[in-house]
Amino acid sequence: MEKKILFPRVGGFLHGGDYNPEQWLDRPDILEEDVRLMKKAGMNSATLGVFSWSALEPAEGEFHFAWLETVIDRLYENGIYTVLSTPSGARPAWLDEAYPEAMRVDRTGMRARHGGRHNHCMSSPVYREKVAVIDRKLAERFGFHPGVIMYHISNEFSGECFCPHCIERFRAYLACRYDNDIEKLNAAWWTAFWSHRYNNFRQIEPPFSNGENSVMGLNMEWKRFTTWNTNDFMKAEIEVLRGVNPDIPVTANLMRLFEGLDYRKMAPDMDVVSWDNYPAFHNDRETLGETFGETAFQHAVMRSLKRGKPFMMMESAPGLVSWQAVNKMKRPGVHLLACLQAIACGSDSVQYFQWRKGRGSYEQFHGAVVDHLGTDDTRVFREVAEVGELLRKIAPAAGTIVKSKAALLFDWDNRWAIADVKAFSQDSKKYEETCIDIWKAFLRLGVDMDVVGSDEDLDGYDVVAAPMLYMLQPGTAENLKRFVGRGGQLLATYCTGYVDREQLCFLGGFPGDGLKEVFGVVSEEIDSLYPSDRNGIALEDGSRWEVRDYAEVLRVRGARVLGRYTDDFYMGTAALTCREYGQGKAYYMAARTAAEQMTPLFERMLADAGIPVRKLPEGVECHVRSGGAGSYAFYINSTSEQAVISGVTGRDLVTDTEVRGELTLPALGAAVLYTQ
Ligand code: GLA
Ligand code: ZN
Repeated sequence: MEKKILFPRVGGFLHGGDYNPEQWLDRPDILEEDVRLMKKAGMNSATLGVFSWSALEPAEGEFHFAWLETVIDRLYENGIYTVLSTPSGARPAWLDEAYPEAMRVDRTGMRARHGGRHNHCMSSPVYREKVAVIDRKLAERFGFHPGVIMYHISNEFSGECFCPHCIERFRAYLACRYDNDIEKLNAAWWTAFWSHRYNNFRQIEPPFSNGENSVMGLNMEWKRFTTWNTNDFMKAEIEVLRGVNPDIPVTANLMRLFEGLDYRKMAPDMDVVSWDNYPAFHNDRETLGETFGETAFQHAVMRSLKRGKPFMMMESAPGLVSWQAVNKMKRPGVHLLACLQAIACGSDSVQYFQWRKGRGSYEQFHGAVVDHLGTDDTRVFREVAEVGELLRKIAPAAGTIVKSKAALLFDWDNRWAIADVKAFSQDSKKYEETCIDIWKAFLRLGVDMDVVGSDEDLDGYDVVAAPMLYMLQPGTAENLKRFVGRGGQLLATYCTGYVDREQLCFLGGFPGDGLKEVFGVVSEEIDSLYPSDRNGIALEDGSRWEVRDYAEVLRVRGARVLGRYTDDFYMGTAALTCREYGQGKAYYMAARTAAEQMTPLFERMLADAGIPVRKLPEGVECHVRSGGAGSYAFYINSTSEQAVISGVTGRDLVTDTEVRGELTLPALGAAVLYTQ
């Protein structure tokens, strides 16, 4: 397998972060000191220009780029490369004053006033025009600079707008989606219900808070439209930049499993996926190991948006953040571990928000590599410098990738449909949590699953878990059938295959679209349990799993029953089944149990698929990257106890020692075992 090097000019991992010299233009001494300190911290990149619009264009049509040029030049001369951002994440005051239509309208119909950030209208022609002007000028001035290695589009896209422009575009989008035929839309949205039929596309409004909220199809299309429109805005920015120099890769920084945008629709339009990683370390809800486990899942989501290529961690806090309810410091050693985890999961960068703490305003106390103290001997600075050193040691791993034989299906559409549907139990739908729990249970077995869409190619996977796949996209059922048919091990759960892409229920039995033949079951009813209600599942081998929240009552048609309910009027009926279909097996888990309890089932699926199970001590993770000359197994111990792992060999690049058989990781310790 060849390596996929993201930054050939850099040769290794990127280590850097958001750098805001425009806040310090009156302190040339500080700007000079920054370069010395960056080198001392082992940084080789800086993200410039993220919110620099008012410094770059202080008045309409008046451009001041000299300061930025000086900074980019100086960094480059010192071996520090620039990730150059477009400034569209926040608008200068002159723009809102001259063009108030650039400001967003919220769900109540109220136009925003000037201020904040990430709050412009994605449709506004004048906003798009002003963004295109400054983007073009930046690309012309800096797009061929040898120090500029990447473009960063805007910042953390989010939000929706209900202005007249957006409404018009929404109608045009719907007309296109439904072939200009309002009756197609009426049928898809089931508008005969409550007399909601539309006569024409002009009558359609987005779901204003005092307007139409009760049509599932409308709510869903508005979400899809918001992704489409945001992506269209992003594409317009990218087109301008590529028009000047198409050779610089582009990215946009994403935010974990952000609810508002379907990242899977946006990823194809960027060259590299990047994301901003801010776990709540040391919170009072979970162990540090749990926090790490969930973060590993988020990394897997990002990695899987562009399979076969490294992603980037664009931001993370060097110390603490300033926006969480409790802004707790990362304990000594945790920073290095979290950075190494990002690399282990497939990132080719460790980057921070931010380089230096500003003196004032909203984020003045947000953690940074350089504190208000201004010195290089702080704990945070030292820990960042350690990361720089480690990244240099493991540099040959850059460009390698995590390749998984197992995948978890996660769809944004499905998530939106489950959140919106009037059914089940409103407080315990927990689609995301259910996916994360199952993913983490596999990780504890040493299996680092990809997280892919239900319509994606499943070739290359031997085990697939598809929790709560309530909505089946066109092609999903075929996809799953093919997967099991050619020998895959598939797990589905309660709430599978109830509706199609339009959220119309399948007739003739759930799971619909031909899946009931694959699983050999039909779900006749679903019981939602109160939080204190329990049921149980008695397994063939005598063990018993506890059921909470949901229990479907099944009719079994050709599947083998592996577990039966222990209580209630459906006691003794099937709760866990397996059907051999083609060369593979399709498991159906009709009730919710803790993922931990299902571990024996996961082990059985992995064994049948020939995927080795490696039970790691609690709080220890393993991720493997490979490509080029070898493979790198990352072991991360996020507990405060020493951990011993047996049956491993390789050269540990962290301690530079040979490991043969047994690896001892200190508390919060890590190892990177290299084998040819
Ligand atoms: C986000 C933003 C940054 C900054 C950080 C603070 O990720 O992109 O500009 O606000 O959060 O944590
Ligand atoms: Zn708008």
